[in-house]
Amino acid sequence: MSNTRLMLVTGASAGIGAEFARQYAARGWDVVLTARRLERLDELKHEIERDFGVQVYTIQQDLARANSVQAILKEVDVLKRHIDGVVNNAGYGLPGTFLNTKWKDQAEFLRVLYTAPVELTHKVLPGMIERGFGRIVNVASLAGYAPGSSGHTLYGSVKAGMIKFSESIHAEAQASGASNVHCTALCPGFTWSEFHDVNGTRQQTNQMPSWLWMEAEPVVRAGIEACETGLPVTVPGPVNKGLATLTRIMPEALARKIMSLQGGRFRRTN
Ligand SMILES: NC(=O)c1ccc[n+]([C@@H]2O[C@H](COP(=O)([O-])OP(=O)(O)OC[C@H]3O[C@@H](n4cnc5c(N)ncnc54)[C@H](OP(=O)(O)O)[C@@H]3O)[C@@H](O)[C@H]2O)c1
Repeated sequence: MSNTRLMLVTGASAGIGAEFARQYAARGWDVVLTARRLERLDELKHEIERDFGVQVYTIQQDLARANSVQAILKEVDVLKRHIDGVVNNAGYGLPGTFLNTKWKDQAEFLRVLYTAPVELTHKVLPGMIERGFGRIVNVASLAGYAPGSSGHTLYGSVKAGMIKFSESIHAEAQASGASNVHCTALCPGFTWSEFHDVNGTRQQTNQMPSWLWMEAEPVVRAGIEACETGLPVTVPGPVNKGLATLTRIMPEALARKIMSLQGGRFRRTN
C-alpha cells in the first residue's frame, strides 16, 4: 500500500479539472483522472508523470450514467489504494429555457453536476473520517450567489446547492472530530476553459470585458489553498469576491433586475 496521497479529479480532461490534477501532482499527490474523453486523459497522464514523477491513473466514465460513481470506485479498488481527496469538478452549462429543453437533458445535467458529486462524497467520506484525513473540493460557481435568470435554468440552483452542501459536509466532518477532513466549495467567475465552447456561448462571452476573466491556474490555486486552510467556501480573485459581496448586500429586487438585463450577455435562452 502506497503512503502517497491519492486525489480523484472528475472532469480532468480539460480546463479547471486538468489544472487541479496538475497542481495536486505538483504538491506530490498521485492522481486519478476521470472524464469521458480517454485520449485527453492519457495525454494529461503522460504530461503529469513526466513533469512531476507521481502515479497517474485514468478512468473513462460518463457521469450521466446512473452507476458511474460505483464504476469509478470499483476501478480505484483494483489499485488497492484509498482515496484521500476528491475534486468534484465535471460540469457544463445546458443552454435554453426550462420550457424548451428536454427532460432527458435536464435529468442528465442534474446527475453530472449534482447527484454524482454528492454520491461520490457520500461514498468516500466515511473512509476519510475513519483515517482522520480528507480533502474534498466541490467546484461550484459565482452563479450560485447570483439570482436566477432566464436560460441555463438549473445551473444557478445546482451551484447554490453545491455551496450549501459543501458547508454542511465541512461542518459535519468538524463535528465528528475529524478536524483534518476539509470540504470546500470553489466559486469561480468567468474562467478560461472549454466551458463556453461546449455550451455554445463563446461568441457572446467574447464580448465580456477581459478584467472579468481569470486563468484556471489562480482559480485552482485558490481552491486548493482554501481547502488546505479549512475554508468551507472560497471565491477566487478580487473581482469575483467583489461581485459575490455585491450580490449579498444589494437589495434582492435590484440584483434580480441586473441579472435579467445582463443574463442575455452570457446565457442562451433559445
Ligand atoms: N469556466 C467557467 O467560466 C466556469 C465558471 C464557474 C464554474 N465553472 C465550473 O467549473 C467546472 C469545470 O468546468 P470548466 O470550465 O473546466 O469546463 P471544461 O473545460 O468544458 O471542462 C469540463 C470537464 O467536465 C467533463 N464532463 C462534462 N460532462 C461530463 C460527463 N457527462 N461525464 C464526465 N465528465 C464530464 C469534461 O470531460 P469530457 O467531455 O471528456 O467528459 C471536462 O473534463 C464545472 O463544474 C463548471 O460548472 C466554470
